[in-house]
Amino acid sequence: MTMRRLAVLSIASALAVSPSSIALAAVDGAQIYHRCAACHLPTGKGVPGAFPPLQAGVRALAGTPAGRRYLSLAVIKGLAGPLTVEGKTYRGMMPAQSGLNDEAVAAVLTHVTATVASGNKAVKPFTAAEVKLARDSGAGLDAAAVARLQPKLSGK
Ligand code: HEC
Repeated sequence: MTMRRLAVLSIASALAVSPSSIALAAVDGAQIYHRCAACHLPTGKGVPGAFPPLQAGVRALAGTPAGRRYLSLAVIKGLAGPLTVEGKTYRGMMPAQSGLNDEAVAAVLTHVTATVASGNKAVKPFTAAEVKLARDSGAGLDAAAVARLQPKLSGK
């Protein structure tokens, strides 16, 4: 190995950020929520007729295992309505939120249900393990199929 190549390698390792600090940065749910807020707004109130609120409906969904699976898949796969949220029907399209691993999906859903939707009431945090189960079991579903999972759960 040449000296030049050695020097490059040692610079690279000196600059390398430890894997644990990358993971910590990646799982800040509030940070990830910024991308959701572009449509659902920072308050989660949504935009009437266009983007549904992430509030009482989401809070209720987070209370059952099937609802939690649906919420995970909504983020992973996106949604293609019709979809009824808090009594109003949306015929929109939410793009799959790409680039989020299981930890990141869990973190943003925990942030949404615990902070945005609940005004800081205690909510069972989402885990990467339950998101992975949803991701694996829902691998064959598209955005429209994920939207069809929702009304059966919430009875809305
Ligand atoms: C580009 C706009 C956009 C972005 C970004 C977006 N959404 Fe959505 N979201 C929508 C739309 C539109 C719907 C309704 C879909 C429909 O009409 O079928 C929706 C629906 C939802 C629902 C279903 C609510 C219910 O009660 O069934 C959840 C949950 C949700 N979004 C969570 C998120 C989260 C979490 C993020 C960020 C990781 C996010 N969304 C980012 C547009 C967006």
